[in-house]
Amino acid sequence: MRVGLLGCGTVGQAVVRLLNDGVGTIERASGHRLEVGPVLVRDPARERPGVDPALITTDAADVLDDPTVAIVIEVMGGIDPTRDYLLRALAAGKSVVTANKQLLSRHGPELLEAAQQGGAELRFEASACAAIPVIKVLRESLLAAEITAITGIVNGTTNYILTEMARRGLAYSDALARAQELGYAEADPTEDVGGGDAAAKMAILSSIAFHTRVHLDDVPHEGIDRLEARDLDLAVRLGFVVKLLGVARLQDGAVSVRVYPALVPVGHRLAAIGGPDNAVLLESRSTREIMLVGPGAGGDETASAVVADVLSILGTHHGSFLHNALADAGRPIAAPGGVRSAFYVRMSVADRPGVLARIASIFAEEDLSIRTVVQSGSGDEATLVLVLHSGTEQRMADALDAVRALDDVRGEPVMLRVLGTGEGGG
Ligand code: NAP
Ligand code: HSE
Repeated sequence: MRVGLLGCGTVGQAVVRLLNDGVGTIERASGHRLEVGPVLVRDPARERPGVDPALITTDAADVLDDPTVAIVIEVMGGIDPTRDYLLRALAAGKSVVTANKQLLSRHGPELLEAAQQGGAELRFEASACAAIPVIKVLRESLLAAEITAITGIVNGTTNYILTEMARRGLAYSDALARAQELGYAEADPTEDVGGGDAAAKMAILSSIAFHTRVHLDDVPHEGIDRLEARDLDLAVRLGFVVKLLGVARLQDGAVSVRVYPALVPVGHRLAAIGGPDNAVLLESRSTREIMLVGPGAGGDETASAVVADVLSILGTHHGSFLHNALADAGRPIAAPGGVRSAFYVRMSVADRPGVLARIASIFAEEDLSIRTVVQSGSGDEATLVLVLHSGTEQRMADALDAVRALDDVRGEPVMLRVLGTGEGGG
């Protein structure tokens, strides 16, 4: 099965990498061996690590008219000539996967119609919130829930800029330059900072959620480009953070979709979303609130959604994926004793000289390093609390056995795991 690419920049190169590196996993999951076919670019001389130069072309016909290309991945962006290319591919019965929100928010219905006419699929998960599978959730998991509101941080670049300005005191222009270097920003970053990119994503999400054709022109939008540092500081002093929000509501049966920078109370769930991450809060009477959070920009992150769309098309048209839930990659189940995390240990001890040293040396023998020690009380009533850096379950169990055996330790020590500080996800 060959896939052709229109565009090979930040996202396109990551797609090629993922398809090449993941060929075995993809074959196991889908039953198909995916091969990268022709790749359309503007400048064939530009360096593209991991991409076979023999596949590069500047002639769109090499992708669109190649009978061996079953699926076209569009990651070039823009409206013209992209719209024509996709209409051509769909009319020829080639399925299309695109990350192009500007195109979809203007011409989505026309492209979907062309797909239906051509007997092809049009998938666009990566067009909104990169790696977060929000479109799939709206189209499938929440199909029966009547969505009443979507509130989201849907642009990674602006969220990164606002986070860097607030947390690290970076200047606006420096934060934007860094977002461009990291591959988060659009080719024309005014799309990001002016709110157009977020408006396009909100148009796509609300079209699906409210079963209504919401065009980009229906979404009034403001960006962060006219925000003043003074207002960011004042917001913090008042207990808020400033976020660029997409806000869509079903109000008296009508759909309202807008994008604007807003003050979000620090305790609100959206206030904690930092860096290039995105979050979408979906509300409906039956499901109440569901929040999806994850990377909202970046080549590898977006490529994951693009390749998932390709696999989804294969599952729909070229064989069922139902068996995949039981697919066996042959990985062993990890022995519980070898699993790592950080730990909290509380114990009652006799407050005598050398107790802490004896306990510390037991943990040290098991390669468990102490991060914090707190002692309260004295005499036979002393309580000792230790927080330990990451170690294995087995070594913690052995250390606790040794601690229990000490004369100075009274009763049973209490051990809890500590989230977020251990290696391997502990
Ligand atoms: P990019 O780095 O600018 O890459 C664009 C690619 O398309 C380049 O390879 C460019 O060729 C090629 N291209 C552009 N116009 C062309 C034309 N007229 N003919 C032939 N080739 C053309 O952009 P990107 O960041 O990968 O984004 C691509 C798409 O994904 C956009 O629609 C963007 O909105 C979307 N997206 C991006 C992200 C992200 O985090 N970057 C996330 C989600 C969605 P050259 O290399 O020769 O210049
Ligand atoms: N420029 C976009 C962003 C890329 O920053 O969110 C992801 O669509």
